[in-house]
Amino acid sequence: MVSYKELGLSNTKALFAKAHAGKYAIPAFNFNNMEQLQAIIQACVETKSPVILQVSAGARKYANQTMLRYMAQGAVEYAKELGCNIPIVLHLDHGNSFELCKECIDSGFSSVMIDGSHLPYEENIALTKKVVEYAHANDVTVEGELGVLAGIEDDVVAEHHTYTEPDQVEDFVKKTGVDSLAISIGTSHGANKFTPAQCTRNADGVLIPPPLRFDILEEIEKRIPGFPIVLHGASSVPQELIAVINNNGGAMKDAIGIPESELRHAATSAVCKVNIDSDGRIAMTAAVREVLATQPAEFDPRKYLGPARDQLKDLYKHKVLNVLGSNDKA
Ligand code: G3H
Ligand code: 13P
Ligand code: ZN
Repeated sequence: MVSYKELGLSNTKALFAKAHAGKYAIPAFNFNNMEQLQAIIQACVETKSPVILQVSAGARKYANQTMLRYMAQGAVEYAKELGCNIPIVLHLDHGNSFELCKECIDSGFSSVMIDGSHLPYEENIALTKKVVEYAHANDVTVEGELGVLAGIEDDVVAEHHTYTEPDQVEDFVKKTGVDSLAISIGTSHGANKFTPAQCTRNADGVLIPPPLRFDILEEIEKRIPGFPIVLHGASSVPQELIAVINNNGGAMKDAIGIPESELRHAATSAVCKVNIDSDGRIAMTAAVREVLATQPAEFDPRKYLGPARDQLKDLYKHKVLNVLGSNDKA
């Protein structure tokens, strides 16, 4: 058993309180390899932003749990070496069982998500409460979820959103003791968040997705004032990067994300944590495809993973500075 405190990590408690008061959101970037982690740390040190390093169950399987723990510990030391001891959270993304959350807590995670959103309401409460009791005994913070995002979550495909019901949030937060709540207001996971048929076109022919349900968010804020809200599925799917991918042999069709103006607006509300994974995948893939397409004789992975890391760092800095506003908050 290792405590996150020994690794130099932070839980989300003080970070969310500061983010809520300061009207910004903390980036939660998923990672599963060294280049992604280096890019996240470089970007957040250079912008002096706190950061949540997010690990999904799939990432845990891919990278190995022991490797991940040492990578996170390495990230803390790397940030110091780069000149800024930014707060770093190691968070389990979409935990689907008590056992998985416990394993992560026992191996040095400072925060876990228990996603019982697909369960009947009372079962979601019971599971979340059980995780909260174990986590809080170890000073680890817990994110719960109410409402279901369209798309793929926990290997379950939901065709339509089930928006979070504002009438449930106060009861859920009170009965479970969670530290933050993920909600469903129209975002979804992955690179195809909307079909072109769901969008309208502006005067320049650009597809505009249906707006997020900020009315639901406002209702939720009224029921649980000051409580930290989490937005999943918040990639914006940059069209210039999709074009690089498709111009270099890729086939990402109808990839549409959440407009950054909406995410900027969300970050100034009770939304304290914004989850971004797909945009990182897209940035990395664009850079790798471009190098391999233009330099077909290249076979040193550093020659394509290096540019991928640079592209990722630029993307993360942009999110911090222009979307989430978490710069200079470390
Ligand atoms: O919410 C899902 C995250 O993007 C993680 O995705 O399970 O493929 O690692 P993954
Ligand atoms: P995106 O697929 O929009 O990046 O969302 C990631 C996420 O919510 C991880 O939990
Ligand atoms: Zn998610």
